[in-house]
Amino acid sequence: MPDFHAACPDYSATSRLDELRATEYSYLDSGGHTYLDYTGAGLVADAQLRAHTERLRGGCYGNPHSDNPTSSASTRLIEEARIAVLRYFNASPGEYAVIFTQNATGACRLIGEAYQFSPLSRLVLTADNHNSVLGLREFAHARGAATRYIKLRPGDLRISDSDVAAALERGVRLRRGNRRCGLFAYPAQSNFSGVQHPLAWVERAQASGYDVLLDAAAFVPANRLDLGVVKPEFVAVSWYKVFGYPTGIGCLLARRDALARLRRPWFSGGTIVAASVQGGWHRLAGDETAFEDGTLNFLAIPDVTVGLAWISGIGIDVIHRRVTYLTSWLLDGLAGLKHGNGAPMVRLYGPETSESRGGTIAFNFLNPHGAVVDERTVARDTTAAGISVRTGCFCNPGAGEWAFRLTRRDVGGPWWRPGFARDLHTVEEYLELIGLPSGGAIRVSLGLVSNLADVERFLDFAERTYRDTEPGQVTLARRVHC
Ligand SMILES: Cc1ncc(COP(=O)(O)O)c(C=O)c1O
Repeated sequence: MPDFHAACPDYSATSRLDELRATEYSYLDSGGHTYLDYTGAGLVADAQLRAHTERLRGGCYGNPHSDNPTSSASTRLIEEARIAVLRYFNASPGEYAVIFTQNATGACRLIGEAYQFSPLSRLVLTADNHNSVLGLREFAHARGAATRYIKLRPGDLRISDSDVAAALERGVRLRRGNRRCGLFAYPAQSNFSGVQHPLAWVERAQASGYDVLLDAAAFVPANRLDLGVVKPEFVAVSWYKVFGYPTGIGCLLARRDALARLRRPWFSGGTIVAASVQGGWHRLAGDETAFEDGTLNFLAIPDVTVGLAWISGIGIDVIHRRVTYLTSWLLDGLAGLKHGNGAPMVRLYGPETSESRGGTIAFNFLNPHGAVVDERTVARDTTAAGISVRTGCFCNPGAGEWAFRLTRRDVGGPWWRPGFARDLHTVEEYLELIGLPSGGAIRVSLGLVSNLADVERFLDFAERTYRDTEPGQVTLARRVHC
């Protein structure tokens, strides 16, 4: 086996992260955790919790919708958090607004509800998208806009620039005058395969008259996003994925010109200048607060400022470098796992090298005859070994369909009829219909305080558990959700 440090001599430049793991994330090693689900959630540093407690102990914070000292204290911290978010992404406050949401899904929903889809516009989606973005098609459909998908390349699960260009151009034909062609939505990084789709598509789509929703949820935890350079109309993020705490807070970053074109379907507390019961009118606020329903999570939003300062103090480029090195090592390690008969132990879904991809790796284990080891077996075994990985389809059915090489015919076979999904109770029933022997993959993802020991422990576990073995027939629970 080649030596990691010889292969990645620059890895030592990231050693600060090892020190932080020992001091600020000590619960990982003291609890015996091998945490490999950073695409699921990032981890919290002790310093963030200290800052939270000190702030709450040292001040008094009231509902920000009032005009009193404790309310003003909350408002001030929320506004500081907006500025911190803008600064973190190098976004100009004149150009971008920061809207606090519950998570990235909440950010997508705000767009879906308020985007002016019409029969003369379309929604263009990459097939590789999280369900929280795919779900936008229901809003588009309700307003008569067609949804078009851009297919993946089987194998590396990337998308070619020419397929993107062709899909966008088809919408241009519908364009009338200055109207936008519609919305193009894609992930900067796939939560399934780790593929990093080109940020250059943003400008390409805008040049064709599209607004762009960039789903940056899986990208920003280990990559720099510079909104001074790449300027999508909308960006969705979930902060717990970046620094673990607080949960329940995300952001929609929106260009102010694009925000002005959205039409909110309702109003609520906090979103208006004024409303009248007898007059039947309301006037929405003229800024980002028009999109923030009800009382913001004012005790937790200031923790976003803390989290961003924490990540900036470490340096996102240091995190990126470490994740890239470890991803490369893990990819090579997985590719090198072989049964005694020489057959590969792993089937990888997505790129085989760390080039233009993040630290998210999807695969299945194979038995010596090449059959997939059921992902529920792997979930059981990893759990017993104290290893946290994700199993299933990761809320990204499109990437799953291409990874498992399912065709349109496979997912819409003779059993298909309009509305069949209404009678579907579990994902297991669907897998039986399409005849898929296994329902999902394994996803290992690396992040902020991943270390070489995590990777080696996982590879060692894989070899000990699955090499030359055929996991016995045990009764596995039926898969309920995707
Ligand atoms: C790429 C991507 N988009 C969107 C989401 C949805 O994030 P949340 O569940 O925090 O809203 C996720 C979550 O895993 C994701 O990875």
